Amino acid sequence: MACLRTPIFPTIITVMFVIALVALQGAVLHAGAADTFSADQPLSGSQKPLVSKRGKFALGFFQPDNSRRWYIGIWYNKIPEQVLVWVANRDFPLSSPELSSLTISTDGNMVLLNGSRSAVWSTNMTAIASSTVGVILDTGNLVLADASNTSIILWQSYNHFGNTWLPGGKLGRGNLIGGSTRLVAWKTFSDPNPGLFSLVLDPNGTSQFFLMWNNTQQYVTSGNWTGQTFSNTPDMAPTNGYPNSMYIFDYVDGAHGSYCVYADKGDEQITRLILDATGRINIFTWTESTQKWILYWSAPKAQCDVYSLCGSFSVCTQGTQSCSCLRGFSEEYQGQWSQGDHTQGCRRNVALQASTNGSRSDKFYPMVGVKLPSNARMIVAAGSTQSCELACLSSHDCTAYSFNGSCSHWFGGIINLVQDLSSVNVGTNSGSIQIRLAASEFSGWKNIKRLAIIITISTISVALIIIASVFLMRKWFKKVAPVEGSLMAFGYRDVQTLTKNFSSKLGGGSFGSVFKGSPEEGTLVAVKKLEGFHQGEKQFRAEVSTLGTVRHVNLIRLLGFCSERTHMLLVYEYMPNASLDRYLFGSSHEPVLSWSTRYQIALGVARGLHYLHERCRDCIIHCDIKPENILLNETFMPKVADFGLAKLMGHDFSRVLTTVRGTVGYLAPEWIAGTAITTKADVYSYGMMLFEIMSGRRNVRHRQDSTVDFFPLLAAMKLTEGELEGLVDTRLGCDVDSAEVERAFRVACWCIQDQEGARPAMATIVQVLEGLVEVNVPPVPRSLKLLGDQSNFVEFSSE
Ligand SMILES: *[C@@H]1O[C@H](CO)[C@@H](O)[C@H](O)[C@H]1NC(C)=O
Ligand SMILES: *[C@@H]1O[C@H](CO)[C@@H](O)[C@H](O)[C@H]1NC(C)=O
Ligand SMILES: *[C@@H]1O[C@H](CO)[C@@H](O)[C@H](O)[C@H]1NC(C)=O
Ligand SMILES: *[C@@H]1O[C@H](CO)[C@@H](O)[C@H](O)[C@H]1NC(C)=O
Ligand SMILES: *[C@@H]1O[C@H](CO)[C@@H](O)[C@H](O)[C@H]1NC(C)=O
Repeated sequence: MACLRTPIFPTIITVMFVIALVALQGAVLHAGAADTFSADQPLSGSQKPLVSKRGKFALGFFQPDNSRRWYIGIWYNKIPEQVLVWVANRDFPLSSPELSSLTISTDGNMVLLNGSRSAVWSTNMTAIASSTVGVILDTGNLVLADASNTSIILWQSYNHFGNTWLPGGKLGRGNLIGGSTRLVAWKTFSDPNPGLFSLVLDPNGTSQFFLMWNNTQQYVTSGNWTGQTFSNTPDMAPTNGYPNSMYIFDYVDGAHGSYCVYADKGDEQITRLILDATGRINIFTWTESTQKWILYWSAPKAQCDVYSLCGSFSVCTQGTQSCSCLRGFSEEYQGQWSQGDHTQGCRRNVALQASTNGSRSDKFYPMVGVKLPSNARMIVAAGSTQSCELACLSSHDCTAYSFNGSCSHWFGGIINLVQDLSSVNVGTNSGSIQIRLAASEFSGWKNIKRLAIIITISTISVALIIIASVFLMRKWFKKVAPVEGSLMAFGYRDVQTLTKNFSSKLGGGSFGSVFKGSPEEGTLVAVKKLEGFHQGEKQFRAEVSTLGTVRHVNLIRLLGFCSERTHMLLVYEYMPNASLDRYLFGSSHEPVLSWSTRYQIALGVARGLHYLHERCRDCIIHCDIKPENILLNETFMPKVADFGLAKLMGHDFSRVLTTVRGTVGYLAPEWIAGTAITTKADVYSYGMMLFEIMSGRRNVRHRQDSTVDFFPLLAAMKLTEGELEGLVDTRLGCDVDSAEVERAFRVACWCIQDQEGARPAMATIVQVLEGLVEVNVPPVPRSLKLLGDQSNFVEFSSE
């Protein structure tokens, strides 16, 4: 409306419109409000839902997923998809809505009557004297109020939580609250029946919240209220403006109880905190422009950290965040499992043999790279793997063992087993575990072995054929470059020859090593040998599926690969000048890169990323932009490399939710906040790297007095003062172009803005660096100030 105000004519229209609106509202109120029901005017199943005064919430009958189960619930009236925030009859669904109604009973309580007029749900208050009505308010609160004065509230849904905590709701304990005090998740995404997960304020009187499983096991503790936020989950209540103040939490401690409450911007904003069926808390806000929910915060950060998420004898895979039964087990209830409720776990296919005499009637199946469950675990005195295994066999209940120098046994159902494949979060108690199975489960394995031999023989013959054809193809390959998307499949022996049996190592990292390969004829290649079975395989797939499909002068070229049994090798074009970090922070015997070379490198990387983000068939997010991953050819042209963490997104998706990947110091705030990421995460890392290209130093430097010297903060502040003196690498002397310096610093600082929306797209960055578009001086990002503070930095980097 603000923009309508200036010319006179539209102002009159606006005023008339407002008058009409007020008149209309008055009319509605007089006709018996559409947000109220009473004994005379119940809300029946055949009726349209009631709508709160300003139209924010609706109250009515609904059925999840055409399930033939009907409920009374509250949802957002203006959001196309039906998102429930409260359900009355969670454990007593109606079979049909036609003859049912939500009404006021003779004793003044709100009741839900089924087809045979009996109450399936009631507010269940005693001694209500006056006549009452039910009203759905614009806050999403359903209240039972005095009919003569609806400000007198006798009961409210805000005190009877479901799985959703709306702004204004008070979650806590004691009489101050006067109702239920816990958030209880749905059983599945389409079943409002109370599930096993809940959120509760510590009943023992501290100010911390617990995420609980089956009311007994805590799996996340918020830590105590510090006056501003909770100590273990400081990013939950961003009162300091990080990531930004979309909502504000407050904790109230009184003589008759304590509670926590939060507020958002009210009518302008739609925020909800939900404990979902998979045991995770999420805070979402609705964005009108994209018509999507944006995830602002969630806990636990890793889905597999939810207690007993997958039930017993099932494993949670960190990367895919999914449950699967252990070998030798199958889903307990397939129906529930397929609906996403895995909490019942898996059942043994063949019963264990009772082995009273210690004979080996059962056997063990090893699982490696798992985070070992801590419950039902006992340390047993045993000096070797064999004695640890024997001791487990002789115990009737022992279902698994692990030996790492000391012997651990597990008893009964094994829960919380996590396959730990992610690049970060590698648990300290990761190891291998031996799962006990009936011996007969292994007889099938012999067949598998036989099959394996057959497969191996045929693989070898196929490999021979491939090697032969590769040999022939190599001659052809020299003349004709492979067409886009076509990769050479190398045999292992072939790669061995190429690298002279891996004799010349170029470098290495956590992923494995890189070797130089010299074909008999033609140009040199680099061969990356991935190690670590699961991790390696993941990276291998990521590189082949992303890099294998793209071609750009500023992206490293993948020429081919080799995947034979456990060998995973990638063959790239060879980059004689290695990686950018060597020249920026390396030893003094590397040449100093001139300003123009640095500027061309910055521009080249921007072009490569622009291509990745927008030009190729599926959008690719690199996820790990840093100087170490920028390779330089003989003319110092940059090539973006190392796609081991890259994410491929279909064109229909603009965001992808994934586990944290990348390198601390280059990670955008949304990674740490645990929200979905976009290509703007790469833009952030690019900005951080751009600072390093210009300064020739690491962004973070620990001073002798153990404080932190954080270059981007210094640069951003100097930029706002218009003072760039001393920011550029001193080794360059006067060899700088001050217009380019100014431009590059502005770009870098725009790239690292807290809000993704404020960061420019790679296309814009290219245009600015090319001098085609001007940018103004960016604000100093808030999170930089936090990072600049040493105490915060420690916290941040330990995420
Ligand atoms: C009402 O409360 C009583 C006692 O607290 C309980 O037994 C009954 O099940 C409740 N009824 C409903 C409909 O909630
Ligand atoms: C309705 O109740 C509220 C709260 O008790 C009171 O402040 C208000 O004066 C009452 N209004 C009328 C019209 O009685
Ligand atoms: C939850 O706890 C109750 C009682 O404490 C127990 O009977 C039930 O078996 C538990 N549920 C699961 C899935 O373990
Ligand atoms: C011990 O178990 C094995 C295998 O089940 C069985 O063949 C053997 O007879 C048992 N010995 C005794 C003494 O029970
Ligand atoms: C073996 O595992 C136990 C239990 O997690 C742990 O306390 C111990 O330090 C481990 N020992 C070694 C040698 O890694």
